[in-house]
Amino acid sequence: MQIKEITANKTDYTDILLIGDEDENMISKYIEQSTVFALYANNALTSVCAVITTDNETIEIKNLATYPEYQNKGYASALIDFVCNKYKTEFKYLILGTGENNKTLSFYKNRGFKETHRLKNFFIENYSHPIFEDGKQLKDMIYLKKIL
Ligand SMILES: CC(C)(COP(=O)(O)OP(=O)(O)OC[C@H]1O[C@@H](n2cnc3c(N)ncnc32)[C@H](O)[C@@H]1OP(=O)(O)O)[C@@H](O)C(=O)NCCC(=O)NCCS
Repeated sequence: MQIKEITANKTDYTDILLIGDEDENMISKYIEQSTVFALYANNALTSVCAVITTDNETIEIKNLATYPEYQNKGYASALIDFVCNKYKTEFKYLILGTGENNKTLSFYKNRGFKETHRLKNFFIENYSHPIFEDGKQLKDMIYLKKIL
């Protein structure tokens, strides 16, 4: 397993980024200023994680995704651990916002994140079309925070 920072041609990763955030227009708003890490297993791209600096003590995950055929092998967890280790001396908190999907929320809570607040109707007001996950329409953006 190898994790590389992607510095050029980030749009080459659009197909995997769309797994974590299905709106290409939203991705284009953060991807250029993001630091993007890509995880490879046996030289095959399996997962990506895009992070930005929010303030001088906080970094934010803007996108985290693993191709379906590589899910449940620990790759996204490895990327979170990598990001935490890389930034823990410089920053205090790792935050992220996600939709109200129980699987996603437990994934993050099991990895030390706690809910802080929600942005009401974020997905309705900011996405060009309704987003459904596991048959449920996403409405609020839920913010989670982990102490590094
Ligand atoms: C969430 C996601 C990044 C996890 O990637 P992964 O490489 O399979 O993660 P790991 O193997 O390290 O851990 C597997 C965990 O993901 C959970 N999981 C499996 N499918 C999932 C899904 N569709 N959505 C959310 N979590 C999922 C498993 O329950 C497991 O959690 P647990 O260990 O706490 O029980 C991956 O499922 C994914 O890309 N989902 C779609 C995009 C998404 O929801 N991104 C998060 C919002 S930014």
